[in-house]
Amino acid sequence: MEFFELLKQRQSCRSYDKNKRVNNEDLQKILEAGLIAPSAKNSQPWKFYVTAGGETKNLVAAACQEKGMNMCLSDCPVLITIAKEPHKQLPGFELPIKIQDFRPVDIGLSVAQMTLAAKELGLDTLIVGWLNDKKIITALDLPDDTDICLVLGVGYATEGYEIREKNRKSFEEKVVFK
Ligand SMILES: Cc1cc2nc3c(=O)[nH]c(=O)nc-3n(C[C@H](O)[C@H](O)[C@H](O)COP(=O)(O)O)c2cc1C
Repeated sequence: MEFFELLKQRQSCRSYDKNKRVNNEDLQKILEAGLIAPSAKNSQPWKFYVTAGGETKNLVAAACQEKGMNMCLSDCPVLITIAKEPHKQLPGFELPIKIQDFRPVDIGLSVAQMTLAAKELGLDTLIVGWLNDKKIITALDLPDDTDICLVLGVGYATEGYEIREKNRKSFEEKVVFK
């Protein structure tokens, strides 16, 4: 698909075909698209925990369904939990530059690349920030202090799931030429 068309067609998918698995080769490509993302000082502050079917995947899905949210994850075959690795202060604090924790930016870029790679392969995704991190830590048997950031659902949209018009604020409101 042409790249700008891909950008328009990438959308949050909230209805998955539970009978269609994601093949290993595609999953590998999606994960690699995330791993080659840029990051501040090439720090790559992400860790991906992949659950593809089975009881652990169901537990991760359930951890994102507090108050009835994200129910579509029950049918979504693959959930990639993304954790933030501990923050390493970047050198440069004597310089007059703003010191920032870039990890959420880095992880955002990585996840964005995974969503686009998935779309290119005919798959759909849902980025999930509404999650109970404690439940995910228990489900994945991770150390208590693991910093869970997002869950990315990957699967095939149900037949007929429509591409929506993008609902975005205007160019004029968001872009300023100075
Ligand atoms: C960091 C982040 C967290 C999100 N968390 C959720 C979520 O928990 N559940 C959900 O349905 N959508 C979630 N979304 C999807 C956004 O609602 C969606 O991207 C936005 O409304 C634009 O729609 P589009 O992705 O279809 O273009 C999240 C998106 C981002 C970037």
